[in-house]
Amino acid sequence: MSDDRLGCAVVGAGGYIGQHFARLLADHPRFAPPLLVAGERSGGKRLADVWQLAEAPPAGLAEERLLRLGPAALARRGVPLVFSALPSGTAGPLERELVRRGVSVFSNAADHRAAPGAPLLVPEVNADHLALARGGRGRGLLVTNPNCSAAGLVVALAPVLGALRPASIHVSTYQALSGAGYPGVPSLAITDNVVPFIRDEEEKVARESSILLGARAGPQVRALRTPIVAHCVRVGTREGHLEAVTVHARRRPSGDALRRAWTTFDPLRALSLATAPHPPVVVRQEPDRPQPLRDRWAGTPARARGMAVTVGRIRWTPPYLRFFALSHNAVRGGAGGSVLNAELALEAGRLPRRPS
Ligand SMILES: NC(=O)c1ccc[n+]([C@@H]2O[C@H](COP(=O)([O-])OP(=O)(O)OC[C@H]3O[C@@H](n4cnc5c(N)ncnc54)[C@H](OP(=O)(O)O)[C@@H]3O)[C@@H](O)[C@H]2O)c1
Repeated sequence: MSDDRLGCAVVGAGGYIGQHFARLLADHPRFAPPLLVAGERSGGKRLADVWQLAEAPPAGLAEERLLRLGPAALARRGVPLVFSALPSGTAGPLERELVRRGVSVFSNAADHRAAPGAPLLVPEVNADHLALARGGRGRGLLVTNPNCSAAGLVVALAPVLGALRPASIHVSTYQALSGAGYPGVPSLAITDNVVPFIRDEEEKVARESSILLGARAGPQVRALRTPIVAHCVRVGTREGHLEAVTVHARRRPSGDALRRAWTTFDPLRALSLATAPHPPVVVRQEPDRPQPLRDRWAGTPARARGMAVTVGRIRWTPPYLRFFALSHNAVRGGAGGSVLNAELALEAGRLPRRPS
């Protein structure tokens, strides 16, 4: 492992997404093991003491204490790059302050999504939108990843959109409990139950997917005009959002052409981005896949586990294409998405080694 790895920190390291960041960054080939920054509940504890994920905490970071550090202290320590797993509301001012101090921020929070100069990014879908990130001359970059359901949906749709030229897209989600962070939904509200409401989720899925699938137009994005209509439902699974998608198509490509579009899709194949799955879409033929329990960790190589989107139960009855898509909400839709965005920015020469 080379020692010119870029220094970084995770803010919100005590939370669900923060722990996935720690897992992904403990031995990353291009980023050094992160400083772990927490809030009131986890500050001062060891990572192992706050760990909630099913797998063991990463050996190199398990004994590290979570620090209470603000933007000024992070900039003073020369940290050039911050991965943000902060709750919305807290994230907005803190991330702005980091960027103002020259620190680049890759965020999971909703506060700055698609704000001017802060693109929403899923590299397989809209890598060219990275050029919209303002930065340099004393200012850090600010790049956001989308809502966890939108992240899986756009990767599943991107390969087939051109062939279908949809009149509308409908999606119903079956979203895992960890999508609400830790401790999340009370057990008595979800045991023996499904909850057909997640605040603001349907609006986020529609808006953010339209932007990600839209086209760059000068300094802005022209959002996809096709209506995207969502139902969002919380179910009692632990990780992995399942989505039932119906595309009302204007064109009638062959079923083989659609399958080929999915199986040959790999727009990042020429770049060496450590967290990029190859292929990004895994197509399952079995009649009962994808399933959260079996498919949430799809993705090769090993570092990209949980980054692939699994598509299955494909039914093409023109003008309707129906399929299910499954993606790991906290990896593809969370920490892994941010790490992949930062790898793309590093590869593109957009990440300075010190606060700029
Ligand atoms: N969960 C998902 O699947 C998912 C997917 C995509 C995006 N997101 C977004 O990612 C963000 C994190 O979500 P989550 O699910 O990980 O939530 P979470 O489990 O509630 O974690 C949030 C963490 O932020 C920490 N925090 C609060 N204020 C802080 C501060 N000033 N400095 C440092 N840390 C601070 C808290 O720390 P303490 O524990 O120390 O108090 C808490 O552990 C949210 O904006 C969420 O919307 C989540």
